[in-house]
Amino acid sequence: MKNILLIGCGHMGGSLMSGWSKSKNYTISVIDKKKHSILKKRNRNKKIKFFKSIDDIKNHNNLDYIIFATRPFELTNVFKELKNVNFNKKSIAISVIAGKKTEIFKKNLLNINKIVRVMPNMPALIGEGVHCIYTNKFINKKEIKEINDLFVLSGKTLFLIVKLL
Ligand SMILES: NC(=O)c1ccc[n+]([C@@H]2O[C@H](COP(=O)([O-])OP(=O)(O)OC[C@H]3O[C@@H](n4cnc5c(N)ncnc54)[C@H](OP(=O)(O)O)[C@@H]3O)[C@@H](O)[C@H]2O)c1
Repeated sequence: MKNILLIGCGHMGGSLMSGWSKSKNYTISVIDKKKHSILKKRNRNKKIKFFKSIDDIKNHNNLDYIIFATRPFELTNVFKELKNVNFNKKSIAISVIAGKKTEIFKKNLLNINKIVRVMPNMPALIGEGVHCIYTNKFINKKEIKEINDLFVLSGKTLFLIVKLL
């Protein structure tokens, strides 16, 4: 079982979540500042939990994936909220946020080296998305396969592998 933390459950975060929720392989913790209680009321899936803030989540050490799905300008606030969170070195940060480079995640998240950027699109909502995925050099082959498993649940995947000479 893999543990996902989703930060931001709007159009894109919610679409990806609906894909993951169909698999028995994931538990999902969702942080959404304003919508957490309405999302909680509507939810019928026991493997999805909703929270107002990272402070409401007891264990930050068992997360396999931390998914960033807020609007780009909200990321500064998200980093402030995560400032003192001691993530596990093995956790993978995955951002679907347009225009934010991997370096900014490395700079602002404690212990995180493994970073992935994904450019999805809205047909992900009905499992028909196309996800273009970039992984940094700290992601190994096994993790690439697992990241693929995450995103094929909402559509096709296309990996951009950059080889450093
Ligand atoms: N939509 C697309 O087609 C698409 C395609 C590719 C990439 N993206 C990327 O996906 C990201 C999200 O886009 P979207 O269309 O899903 O936007 P959205 O619907 O506005 O979703 C953003 C969500 O993040 C929540 N949020 C804001 N601040 C937060 C915080 N500090 N902690 C937790 N949650 C917070 C927002 O809550 P409130 O609304 O209550 O503030 C909202 O639910 C963007 O960065 C965008 O570049 C989107």
